[in-house]
Amino acid sequence: MSVGIIVGSQWGDEGKGKIVDILSEKYEIVVRYQGGANAGHTVEIGDKKFILHLIPSGILREDVICVIGNGVVIDPKALLDEIKQLEDLGINIKGRLFISHNAHLIMPYHKLLDSISESGTSKIGTTGRGIGPCYIDKYARSGIRIVDLLDKKVLEEKIRCNIDEKNNLLKKIYNHSELNVDEIIKEYLDFDDQIDEYITDTTHFIHNALDEGRSILLEGAQGTLLDVDHGTYPYVTSSNPTSGGACTGSGIPPTKITSVVGIVKAYTTRVGLGPFPTELLDETGEKLRKIGAEFGATTGRPRRCGWYDAFLVNYSRMINGIERAAITKLDVLSSFEEIKVCVGYEINGKKLKSFPTDLNRLSNVTPIYETLPGWNEDISTAKTYEELPWRAKDYLLFMSQTSGFEIGIVSVGPKRDQTIEL
Ligand code: GDP
Ligand code: IMO
Ligand code: MG
Repeated sequence: MSVGIIVGSQWGDEGKGKIVDILSEKYEIVVRYQGGANAGHTVEIGDKKFILHLIPSGILREDVICVIGNGVVIDPKALLDEIKQLEDLGINIKGRLFISHNAHLIMPYHKLLDSISESGTSKIGTTGRGIGPCYIDKYARSGIRIVDLLDKKVLEEKIRCNIDEKNNLLKKIYNHSELNVDEIIKEYLDFDDQIDEYITDTTHFIHNALDEGRSILLEGAQGTLLDVDHGTYPYVTSSNPTSGGACTGSGIPPTKITSVVGIVKAYTTRVGLGPFPTELLDETGEKLRKIGAEFGATTGRPRRCGWYDAFLVNYSRMINGIERAAITKLDVLSSFEEIKVCVGYEINGKKLKSFPTDLNRLSNVTPIYETLPGWNEDISTAKTYEELPWRAKDYLLFMSQTSGFEIGIVSVGPKRDQTIEL
């Protein structure tokens, strides 16, 4: 039995979707465990490109079962759009998708409150998908869950009660017009009709599968430095993308986990606000963005780009228990004469012993770089590790030594077949 966790090792968009698609060939079930439609996981197969927001990236392999776990927050409209888009592309969803009855629902007021708070002074640069406000209600114990859809009376009562409270907030604090409760109730009752067949007690479904010896891959969204506990707070998302979150977000106990694979981009990117020590605000950063096509898969925003930060990924390795990594986008570095890697930080000339997650210190660090020679050669058609130029191998070795993991996969392009397994 194998239960693997896929975790983003940086600030998201490391290429988790592509690697989950590759690995799901060897797994029977893929489970998304946190986040929501703030995620955008891209999988390219031949000339087709799929961007998944809520449905696990395993859906593109027809014999794989997909589960949206209890830790996920579900926007009904985003989910229905995604199901439709996949079906239009000939992907069969029925009988293959299971949605946890304990997952929380994103409501229209969550998206509205997200956008209102982003227009104020304490901006995070969120995706505007209502993620933070939905998790606020979850932890305030007033959230509406998928299970509530199953009893129309309960659903109506809960929506009315929540909207009363939100309308008060909207009117009195934000001077905003009130929401129409009847329209929202109707919208969510319609939603129930459309997803009823997918709703399951996924915790027991997963445990039955484990008892039968089935293999499970847990797909994280976002990345370690966006984790609400371990990331660069407050510039984080509102869930736990780290490996611990995979257990709480699926109901699988830590004792069943057999591997944690970190997805590591060969350089660093970040979307939204917050400190980013190796960010390049010059033409080198521009070049990374252009060659790497670094524009958000969900919002289309340009991603901030910078050199690989081994000090940061080492922290990520520690928090997640990463032993093996999949390195992505190595091909993007192919035309650089020199490549820098951050191996530590200093503040006022004093070297830091450990990665600081507090805003004050992280905003004031100076990265310590080592410079490696580039390989100046197209690697996007390489099929084996041996085929890579020796300088590219040196770069991988340096990443592995400075960040403390073994490398299991090297990705040299967005497509399925541009993948080297070591
Ligand atoms: P995720 O959120 O971690 O799944 O990553 P995204 O899908 O948001 O962003 C990764 C982007 O890089 C997508 O456009 C992928 O198609 C693309 N990609 C993944 N791996 C590689 C790679 O090895 N090389 C290149 N050039 N692109 C890649
Ligand atoms: P995937 O799964 C990159 C960022 C947002 C913002 C912060 C909070 O594709 O890697 P939120 O909407 O979650 O409240 O925004 O988190 N963010 C992501 N950045 N990749 C993602 O997902 C992200 N999901 C959220 O840009 O800075
Ligand atoms: Mg993404």
